[in-house]
Amino acid sequence: MSDSPKLTHRPQWTALEHHHAGELQHSQLRDLFAADPGRAERYTVRAGDLRIDYSKHLITDETLALLQELATVTDVFGLRDAMFRGEKINVTERRAVLHTALRAPREAVIEVDGENVVPAVHAVLDKMADFSERVRSGEWTGHTGKRIRNVVNIGIGGSDLGPAMAYEALRAFTDRSLTVRFVSNVDGADLHEAVRDLDPAETLFIVASKTFTTIETITNATSARSWLLAGLDDGGTSRSSEVECGGEKAVAKHFVALSTNAEKVADFGIDTTNMFEFWDWVGGRYSYDSAIGLSLMIAIGPDRFREMLDGFHLVDEHFRTAPAASNAPLLLGLLGVWYGSFLGAQSHAVLPYSHYLSKFTAYLQQLDMESNGKSVDRDGDPVEWQTGPVVWGTPGTNGQHAYYQLLHQGTKVISADLIGFVNPVDELSPELKAQHDLLMANLFAQGQALAFGRTSDEVRAEGVPEEQVPHRTFRGNHPTTTILASELTPSVLGQLIALYEHKVFVQGAIWNIDSFDQWGVELGKVLARRVEPALTEGADVPGLDPSTAALVAAYRTLRKK
Ligand code: F6P
Repeated sequence: MSDSPKLTHRPQWTALEHHHAGELQHSQLRDLFAADPGRAERYTVRAGDLRIDYSKHLITDETLALLQELATVTDVFGLRDAMFRGEKINVTERRAVLHTALRAPREAVIEVDGENVVPAVHAVLDKMADFSERVRSGEWTGHTGKRIRNVVNIGIGGSDLGPAMAYEALRAFTDRSLTVRFVSNVDGADLHEAVRDLDPAETLFIVASKTFTTIETITNATSARSWLLAGLDDGGTSRSSEVECGGEKAVAKHFVALSTNAEKVADFGIDTTNMFEFWDWVGGRYSYDSAIGLSLMIAIGPDRFREMLDGFHLVDEHFRTAPAASNAPLLLGLLGVWYGSFLGAQSHAVLPYSHYLSKFTAYLQQLDMESNGKSVDRDGDPVEWQTGPVVWGTPGTNGQHAYYQLLHQGTKVISADLIGFVNPVDELSPELKAQHDLLMANLFAQGQALAFGRTSDEVRAEGVPEEQVPHRTFRGNHPTTTILASELTPSVLGQLIALYEHKVFVQGAIWNIDSFDQWGVELGKVLARRVEPALTEGADVPGLDPSTAALVAAYRTLRKK
């Protein structure tokens, strides 16, 4: 049990409450900008290639100073340093939190329990690079000698969202002759749709699971193995005695594993020489720059993957060394605390103005909500303050024609990140490239409209009939951060992800929660295992509540035999 005062009892916390209740409660962004011509420049910070404008936030210099004091008394930088040193800051699992070691340079020294982990990280990266090159060049063939043309990653949560998101983000850098797909859902439709048009002889499955016990992944991998063996066996030319007698040799050419659990990988029937290792100090949601990124590395090649790791590292170093006033993850984390804990915001929107970032927000949902969706502090005591927000969003401009109405004129406090790039990807035609200005005009327009709105006087001045004025008035004052980079390269993607990783870290540190466990996902898993026999065999499951028991009975009645 720690002796430090509860967060809400700290003078810095009450000072922020008073600050909000006092001068800031009725402040308007219009007024804050009018009073301070240098605000946009002063409230813009750079991290690597990212230009982060946080001037459209409901803050003043005093807000920032008070938030910085809160960060100081909660020792955010002390915890940061402990994380980078490899201390076991994941207290409930007694584990180090060292995703930063995954992108450390070869010569770095980072110790866990007295052992430098960096050589092992680079050994795995080298093994991944060698394997990726062999697949990309056609040297690694399937069981029948055919070249691998399809890569299917089977995993869920952190073993899916990261590589799936990054594959979409970096499509322009991928080998377009390869088909890369991601299967996560235990709904058989996911695997069915992923493989239905593929030739098993040309398909490599990557089974990604930190624990190698996750039921969705093992179930899908088992079905994928059956599909492979049946497909090879039916293929006539590919028929072979190995396929007929259990398929070990075929599996060895078509299945590789990404895991921390060699024993379970071997139990599944994958040769552990075809396993790419990572370690218990890599959290699932922080793992796509580990072996979990193999599908991505095959798609973009080892050099591009390395550029992405360097991008991560650039922002790691920024977070580790930049002073508080210009430390981007710190500032964004403090703003998250400000809205969540003091201004009553329940949710945070992430709105990328890039089609390639279509899976970015879904990825961040796990990163943020699995990390900071907690209601007890690091000592196990209930928290008396709001913790992580609901994170949501889809790429602009689609969202503008769906839910932005609520952002502009609804009643909720919602902060948002607008993310955009100055240049479209190279391979677009000149005509499609020309659309980019329109895309970005939308981003800039939305930031402006959300912040400054349109007053009733302005509406009236446009000749709008009086009865429509309230409906066409925009009160503004909706806070946004704008993150701008030159283009979406592997390095910039790494920088963006590291920015969010550390932002989430900062918020968890201030809220005094363990951002690195995820006990909240366990109960549902246990109950699913208990309920399944009731569905499949009609087994009596003790302890079902009346509602669930009735649903199970209805399911059994309607189930086709
Ligand atoms: O259920 C949540 C979770 O444990 C995530 O944290 C993790 O990313 C995911 O499941 C997948 O776990 P694994 O990689 O062990 O299959």
